[in-house]
Amino acid sequence: MQREKLLLIPGPTPVHPRIIHSLSLPTVSHVSPEFVAEFKEALNNLKKAVFTSEGQPFIIAGAGTLAMEIALLNTVAPEDHVLVLSQGYFGQRMRDILASFNLQGDIIQSEPGRAVTPDEVENKLAENNYAVVVSTHVDTATGACAPIRSYAEICKEYGVLFIVDGVCATGGIEERMDDWGIDVLLTAAQKCFGVPPGLAILVFSPRAMIKRKNMTKIPAYYSDILRWLPVMKDPSKYFSTPCVNEIRAFNEGLRLVMEEGLNQRFRRHAQTARAIRAALADMGLSLFTQETFLADTLSVVLYPPGIKDKDFRQLLAQNGVIVAGGLGELMGKVFRMGHMGNLSPSQVIFALQAVEKTLEALGHKLEKGRAIKRAEQIFSEKIH
Ligand SMILES: Cc1ncc(COP(=O)(O)O)c(C=O)c1O
Repeated sequence: MQREKLLLIPGPTPVHPRIIHSLSLPTVSHVSPEFVAEFKEALNNLKKAVFTSEGQPFIIAGAGTLAMEIALLNTVAPEDHVLVLSQGYFGQRMRDILASFNLQGDIIQSEPGRAVTPDEVENKLAENNYAVVVSTHVDTATGACAPIRSYAEICKEYGVLFIVDGVCATGGIEERMDDWGIDVLLTAAQKCFGVPPGLAILVFSPRAMIKRKNMTKIPAYYSDILRWLPVMKDPSKYFSTPCVNEIRAFNEGLRLVMEEGLNQRFRRHAQTARAIRAALADMGLSLFTQETFLADTLSVVLYPPGIKDKDFRQLLAQNGVIVAGGLGELMGKVFRMGHMGNLSPSQVIFALQAVEKTLEALGHKLEKGRAIKRAEQIFSEKIH
C-alpha cells in the first residue's frame, strides 16, 4: 500500500480522522430528523466561529468560487458600483465574476506581497459613491493578510456594505463579524476548517439580508439566497438536495473547532506559522510576502538560487510532503506551504525535516537539524 503523503498545500488541508469517519457513515435522508439536527448544529456553530449572533448562515454544495459569486450576486444591484481590494490572485477573480454578470467594479491592486492600505480605501471611498467594498482576507497566491478590521471601520464610516473573502482565513484567523462590521463573510470547507472540498459557506449580516430583499430580481437561481433561506431557517424544508455526508463532515469539523476553542485555535495557527518561518529562515530561505502582511495560514517561500521548482516539489513529494507551486506570476519562483486547519506540531516537524532533506539533496547548504530544533523550541512555548 502506498504511504499517505502529508498534504501541505494551501487547501485542501489534512483531514482529521474524526472527519474522515463521519464522511464514511451511510448516507441518510436529507430530511431525516438526525440529519436536520446535524445541519442545524452546523449552522449554529458556523455563527459562533465568525462571532455573530444576528448573522444568517448559508451552507451550500459548491466551493469558494461559488461562495464569491453568491456574495456578489445577492448584494450588488445593476446600478451599484463595487470597489474590490485585491491583494493578488483572488481579488482579480472577484472582478472577473462582476464582469461576467455585467456588474460594475473598480479595483485597487496592492503592491506584490502586501495588502491595500486603509488610506487607499478611504481616499477611494471619499472620491466615489461605492455601494459595496469587497476584500480578500488572505490571498492564497501571495500570502498577504489584509487589515480587514481597519477596512471594516472605514466601510462603516461611509455606510458601505463590506464583503470579506475568508477562504484562506475563516476558522484559523480571527474574524469578528458583528463587532467589526462585516456584512458578508464567505469561505469554503477545505481550508482552515480542515474538511474535504465541497461546500460554499457564507454568513450574511442583517444589513446584507435587507439589501438582498430590496433587490427584486437577481441573475441567479441556485445562487439566490432567498431560495435557500427557508432551508437554512429550518433544514427539514426542501429547495435542492443538500450534500448530506459533506455537511455532516463539516459539522464534525466545527465540533473540533469548538472543542479546541476559537482563541486557542487562532493562537495555535500563529504559533505554527512562527515555528515554520523560523525554521525556514534557519534553512536560509526567505519569504515572498512582506513581513507586516504575513498570514498565519500559509507561507509563500522564495526558491534559493539553483533550486528548481519541479525538482524540489518532486523530491519533496518522494520524501512524503506535498506543497503547492506558485500561482500566476509567481509560478516557478516560489513554493506555497499551507499551515492551517487541524495540523499538529508533529506533522509540521515531519514536513520541515522533509524540506531540509530535500534542499540538502539538491545541493543547498544548511546546518542540518538546526531549523528543526528551532521549530521544536517554538512549539514547546506555552501559547497564550
Ligand atoms: C482566498 C481565496 N478565495 C477564493 C478561492 C476559491 O476557492 P475554490 O477553489 O474553493 O473555488 C480560493 C482558493 O484557493 C482562495 O484561496
